[in-house]
Amino acid sequence: MRDHSDFSSAPARRRRRFDDEPRFVKRSPRPELESPERDEDTGWTSWDSPGVLHGPEPRPDWVITELAARDTDRGVLKTGKEADVHLVERAVPDTERRMLLAAKRYRAADHRLFHRDAGYLEGRRVRESRVTRAMAGRTAFGKEAIAGQWAGAEFVALGSLWQLGVSVPYPVQLLGTELMLEFVGEADGTAAPRLAQVRPDRQRLERLWEQLVDALRVLARAGLAHGDLSPYNMLVHHDRLVLIDLPQIVDVVINPKGAEFLARDVTVVARWFTAKGLPVDPEPLIAELVDDAGIR
Ligand SMILES: Nc1ncnc2c1ncn2[C@@H]1O[C@H](COP(=O)(O)OP(=O)(O)O)[C@@H](O)[C@H]1O
Ligand SMILES: [Mg+2]
Repeated sequence: MRDHSDFSSAPARRRRRFDDEPRFVKRSPRPELESPERDEDTGWTSWDSPGVLHGPEPRPDWVITELAARDTDRGVLKTGKEADVHLVERAVPDTERRMLLAAKRYRAADHRLFHRDAGYLEGRRVRESRVTRAMAGRTAFGKEAIAGQWAGAEFVALGSLWQLGVSVPYPVQLLGTELMLEFVGEADGTAAPRLAQVRPDRQRLERLWEQLVDALRVLARAGLAHGDLSPYNMLVHHDRLVLIDLPQIVDVVINPKGAEFLARDVTVVARWFTAKGLPVDPEPLIAELVDDAGIR
């Protein structure tokens, strides 16, 4: 079987850095940066489209790789300033095989940088190239390339975290500015609520906090911080906490503000848990994580 995976050749635990340039940007003929066109109810699967990258191995067995499959857009899960998330069903006709995906489509930023472009890019090595010049000049191609970079960064981050065993949606594929993820929710297409939307009792709060601390420890030991952690960027699927929205993942060792990002993440979530009835002190946890990351 042909393998497009960006991960399979890498040693399982190699740490990917935010500034690893996604390969599709380097060999970027324009069409690869564009979101795939998809006719409602008639689109072939984009699994094998030119330029597509697949998520890490071992691939979960629910991922549909058959070329006879078709992708159907089932509607919008959420629209945002920087990306829209759609529910997509990929199914093999005349069989029972189907899966649901969350398709996150980054927009080409029109008039400004993504709000995350500022501090997160510090310490990142930007190579001068035709693509980076187009990005700086905000040509149509440059804007598309920026959106593609964020999609690529999130794809790489999710793949790395998934391989580390952190609870994140499995990144099924990346195609230009579109990222297709494991759908976190019910088989009928109801998405799992964000943490901000649930009202857990004390016992449930404790279990969610434990899962969060475990995830933060794994991240810190890998030298990483989420960078935009909040009760809006975590989903609660039954009793499982799932981290999402990771394009700005921070390499806390390289980024001069790494420790600040880490502390901010912990402070924001500790405040939420405290307000919901589980008093947690962010300070000892921040100290522990900073220590785990080896940045002090
Ligand atoms: N894998 C997923 N499964 C189910 N819903 C998702 C998934 N990814 C994102 N969503 C939904 O889309 C929303 C926006 O996704 P997010 O990655 O946070 O993007 P944004 O940059 O717009 O905040 C989430 O709050 C969640 O409701
Ligand atoms: Mg979000």
